Amino acid sequence: MKVYKAHILFTKERNRFEVLENSYVAVDGNGRVTGVSTDLTSLVADASERRKPGFEDTEIIDFGDRLLIPAMNDMHVHAAQYRNQGIAMDMELLPWLQNYTFPEETKYADTGYAERMYRRFVHDMWRVGTMRNCTFATIHTESTRVLMHLFQEAGMGSLVGKVGMNRNCTEKLSESVEQMVQGYESLITEFNNPDGLVRPIITPRFIPSCTPEMLRACGELAAKYHLHVQSHLSENKEEIALVQKLEPESTCYGDAYDRYGLFGQTPTVMAHCVFTEKEELELMKRRSVMVAHCPTSNLNVTTGIAPIRLFLDEGLPVGLGSDISGGHSLNIFQIMVYAIQMSKLHYQRNHARAFLTLSEAFWMATKSAGSFFGQVGSFEPGYEFDALVIDDHDLNHDNYSLLERLERFIYLGDDRQIAHRFCRGKEIPEPKQ
Ligand code: GUN
Ligand code: FE
Repeated sequence: MKVYKAHILFTKERNRFEVLENSYVAVDGNGRVTGVSTDLTSLVADASERRKPGFEDTEIIDFGDRLLIPAMNDMHVHAAQYRNQGIAMDMELLPWLQNYTFPEETKYADTGYAERMYRRFVHDMWRVGTMRNCTFATIHTESTRVLMHLFQEAGMGSLVGKVGMNRNCTEKLSESVEQMVQGYESLITEFNNPDGLVRPIITPRFIPSCTPEMLRACGELAAKYHLHVQSHLSENKEEIALVQKLEPESTCYGDAYDRYGLFGQTPTVMAHCVFTEKEELELMKRRSVMVAHCPTSNLNVTTGIAPIRLFLDEGLPVGLGSDISGGHSLNIFQIMVYAIQMSKLHYQRNHARAFLTLSEAFWMATKSAGSFFGQVGSFEPGYEFDALVIDDHDLNHDNYSLLERLERFIYLGDDRQIAHRFCRGKEIPEPKQ
């Protein structure tokens, strides 16, 4: 067993931080938290009673005056758009996809190009302290396999989606339904260990990109292999109108996925939900569909302000996503800041719904998002120990409180303050670039 000592901060509940000064978190040999406490003796006695290795093999690692917090989770990101990060911000969604995104993704037919880009992507995920993610790759099975191997090599968690696409795109970025199913099955054979940190996730790009046959095949794969599902939902008004045209029987965009078994029949995360209205919201609640809120992307691709306070009040699970390259920042701490600021713009228009607090943003990025991966994102007993050690001495020049120190790190900090990263109990070294 390992015991880590530091100032420990996390969000068991969304409305408040747990703040434990000079405290301890105990982690067992499986990488799970057995307890957290200000009192070492009771913590070690408790844990050893339960697990019986005794005091002797307990190693205590003292991080001194540093902060220990749960690691970040990125619930929506496109690994294959990494080259486009920070460029091409002058169009709305549908022309942006056609003009910038699809041409870039076409390059991933070349596994050499894919490896070069994906190495940098995995490295930078590590750098910003994101230990788990849900990512889109491309239609290309072999490049997707490269990305999965790189995450495995790094020891970080990722649900990786080979992207399903066969309409409204060029021939080079299109696959037949049979090819899609075969590609998935080959990845599933290699990676579908239910305990694995890296696993496939069924990923129809969005309704406009997939024929009914492809959507049906995606739903069947998810059901057959018990795989999670990710896609895009209600991001842009033109997109929503197009979905209504393509799937005229559907009662809302979410219902179009639901008809194919792609809306919570297995754990599902949907990015954006900017224009989700009552019927879609009710369906999402019934199916426990998670929202991946991507505020930077919603600003850059000019979609709109998602009603996150409403989703939280309604009890929908919500996590945060960078949505590179619609979004420009990979750093989930920055995404928290944007989520709070966007909610303040929403509030200025409609005072009926309060803006988000820091603890809510932190909770969405950690415990709420982490539930998609199992017990991840908190330091409660049984949770997998995914953690960051923050050395903020350069920001802490005037005896700030522990909570103020965390807030300043979130608003002002970057990867330079991240001193150590842990995923499932293991310290994760810098991946090779
Ligand atoms: N909808 C379908 N594909 C995409 C994508 O790559 N990015 C965003 N932001 N929305 C999408
Ligand atoms: Fe996206």
